[in-house]
Amino acid sequence: MLIILLFPALYIFMLRPLIKAQGLSARENLKRVTDSRDELDKETDERKKTQNEVQAKADELERDNRFFVGRDNQIKDQFRKLSHAIEQSTLSILITDVKGNIEYANPKLFDITGYTREEAIGKNAKIFSSGKTPPETYRSLWNNILSGKDWHGEFLNKKKNGELFWEHSTISPIKNEDGIITNFVAYKEDITKIRKLEEQFRQAQKMEAVGQLTGGIAHDFNNILTGIILNSELLKLKIDKDDPLRARVEQTVEQAIKAANLIQSLLAFSRKQTINLQYANLKDVITSTKRLLSRIIREDIELKINIPEKDLTILADEVQIEQVIINLATNARDAMPNGGVLTIEVSDMEIDDKFIDTYGFGKAGRYALITVTDTGIGMDEDTQKKIFEPFFTTKEVGKGTGLGLAMVYGLIKQHEGYIDLYSKPGNGATFKIYLPIEESQDEDLKPREQVVPKRGSETVLVAEDDEIIRKTTISILENYGYKIIEAVDGDDALEKFIKNKDRIKLIILDVIMPKKSGKDVYNTISNILPTVKVLFMSGYTGDVLQVKEITERGLHIISKPFTDKALLIKMREMLDR
Ligand SMILES: Nc1ncnc2c1ncn2[C@@H]1O[C@H](COP(=O)(O)OP(=O)(O)O)[C@@H](O)[C@H]1O
Ligand SMILES: [Mg+2]
Repeated sequence: MLIILLFPALYIFMLRPLIKAQGLSARENLKRVTDSRDELDKETDERKKTQNEVQAKADELERDNRFFVGRDNQIKDQFRKLSHAIEQSTLSILITDVKGNIEYANPKLFDITGYTREEAIGKNAKIFSSGKTPPETYRSLWNNILSGKDWHGEFLNKKKNGELFWEHSTISPIKNEDGIITNFVAYKEDITKIRKLEEQFRQAQKMEAVGQLTGGIAHDFNNILTGIILNSELLKLKIDKDDPLRARVEQTVEQAIKAANLIQSLLAFSRKQTINLQYANLKDVITSTKRLLSRIIREDIELKINIPEKDLTILADEVQIEQVIINLATNARDAMPNGGVLTIEVSDMEIDDKFIDTYGFGKAGRYALITVTDTGIGMDEDTQKKIFEPFFTTKEVGKGTGLGLAMVYGLIKQHEGYIDLYSKPGNGATFKIYLPIEESQDEDLKPREQVVPKRGSETVLVAEDDEIIRKTTISILENYGYKIIEAVDGDDALEKFIKNKDRIKLIILDVIMPKKSGKDVYNTISNILPTVKVLFMSGYTGDVLQVKEITERGLHIISKPFTDKALLIKMREMLDR
């Protein structure tokens, strides 16, 4: 009982505090446990967080890494492409520092200039300058690029071997992040070939224009001279052999023929001269000029002629090809005042696409090539550009007319050929003439023999609007026994023909006449009488096409001014067929 009674007291006084004490520490313990649990949780959380963060960071790094590896590959790829583009570019590319010293150049640049990498790198880009590009070009270049702008322009530059070439350049400054120019880059293109073609085109246009002009003047003179020559010849026939006046007339004819020859060179240059194309063996043509050549050149000049065995058939006016050779030989002689060697060679060759590409002229096909070379004084480039122009001469007054090569030029053009020249001052000159080789041959164009004129008795219709030419032609023919019917224009010719068609054996028709052209008259007449024989007369061919058509149709044509002999021979030849 006491225990029972005591218990509460015990409890109150002893146990309770004890218990209480004990009770307190348990709670505390519990709290502590809880606390540490919390801490642990917190720590765990934090560690997790850190871990997550680390993971995120790692992921990020991984991503970055992947990105950078990718970027690196991309950059490498980009770099590879860019360097290929630059190294394999068909443009020359050059990078210099701000002073123009070469830091980089691509293979194309070495290819064109002939310098090696070792020779060029570190040198100033001035090594390419020829001294022939105007200083203004460089001034404008530097002004532009130093102020940060691009520049485009053309240089005449020099290769390592001294050869000049035209170059189109685009030059731009390269700037760093601060906008400061650190380098220049140049993109260059070799435009020498284009320049050459342009130059040739300009030259051809100029020649065409000059040709038109001279052709027009020559035409009028030609008609006047025809009148003078025919009249003088006629006068000569009327004057006694021992009359002193006869010599005067002969001199008039001689002078007029000289003038006519001069005019002929102008007509030849302007390609307004009618030419008589026939098949010719080039071997024979050159051989026959040999005799003439030995008269032109002096004794201190050695003449070498090199002709192949094989026949080279060209369609040519032999007299004119002879003229070409004589003109070239005369010039060669004049270029060798102290003697030398004149070589004339003939060969054949093919003009193909590669040739046309290289030289900038020509039409594909087989050609006979005549090469005329001398060992004379030669010519500089400026002279070479002008030599085919009429009246261009470097010879003193009275020695040169400046018409020789103009004529050569026109004649070769008229033969559908080409002429080219190579020369250096002090090193002689070589002229190359290309004439198309004719593979198939037409009987009608075979060469004819020249004979002395014979008299005739046939009736001939002469249609010519120019009174002087008509009257003199008629007089010559009458002197040789022919009976003449006279017509003053196209209509008149047609009318007289119809009236007298049974008697008329030959018709002489001027190509260009008022009312009806010679060609139109011919077309009508040949419908009425297809076997009719017609000889066209032509001087200046205002319409070259008409003459071309006439010759192509195998019709007969005689060019003014003609001598009485030429006319009479031609007529007999036609009448006797
Ligand atoms: N073989 C050559 N060597 C040097 N110069 C030449 C030669 N052929 C022509 N030339 C030059 O071309 C110019 C023109 O020639 P050309 O037309 O024949 O006229 P010309 O002989 O009357 O002067 C000559 O004056 C000369 O300067
Ligand atoms: Mg000459």
